[in-house]
Amino acid sequence: MDAITALHTRLSVPGLTEPGPSAEQLDTLLRAAIRAPDHGIVRPWRFMLIEGEARKRLGEIFADAQTADDPATDAAILDKMRRNPLRAPTLLVVVAETDPDNRVPVLEQVMAVAAATQYIMVAAHALGIGAMWRTGRMAEHTLVKRALGFADKDEIVAYVYLGTPSGTRKLLPDEDPASYLRTLPE
Ligand SMILES: Cc1cc2nc3c(=O)[nH]c(=O)nc-3n(C[C@H](O)[C@H](O)[C@H](O)COP(=O)(O)O)c2cc1C
Repeated sequence: MDAITALHTRLSVPGLTEPGPSAEQLDTLLRAAIRAPDHGIVRPWRFMLIEGEARKRLGEIFADAQTADDPATDAAILDKMRRNPLRAPTLLVVVAETDPDNRVPVLEQVMAVAAATQYIMVAAHALGIGAMWRTGRMAEHTLVKRALGFADKDEIVAYVYLGTPSGTRKLLPDEDPASYLRTLPE
């Protein structure tokens, strides 16, 4: 798939099944990611590959964080949180390991990592791999960051769920980009 076609046709794929991307495909995704624009060449991106049984450990981390917030959390909610990482064979946790002392603002460092995440999304689409960018409370939780080996100052930018697309695919939206254009006020 050529680059413009990939950019014009990418869609999120929530229904994902085995197999996940191969090691070679994952390398291709990460090579795309690290071509993202990065003000000051801070290199703030970190990628954590989570597959197989490690997904269950991530689910336990989510459940532990939830229990710390509310020890009375309903067992069914905890069970759902444990199972969330099992929604795809492969997860890439994309983290901004920020440098607050750098002259480049932390917001821009995080934006660079968001750009890297989007490169993963488009590259996955180009390879026929389904991908879904997720965040939510478990992307903000300090206990989750620490359990993953990061500091409180760092930002979990994405849980990218990856796998083989399954189920019915939604249709591409038919939108006119001109509706988002604005002109400079006089
Ligand atoms: C920063 C960010 C966080 C997101 N977090 C979630 C999420 O937690 N759950 C979810 O269902 N979609 C989330 N999405 C949105 C989906 O990934 C997807 O982009 C959206 O449903 C639109 O579908 P499309 O990508 O096919 O246009 C997030 C998107 C971004 C950019």
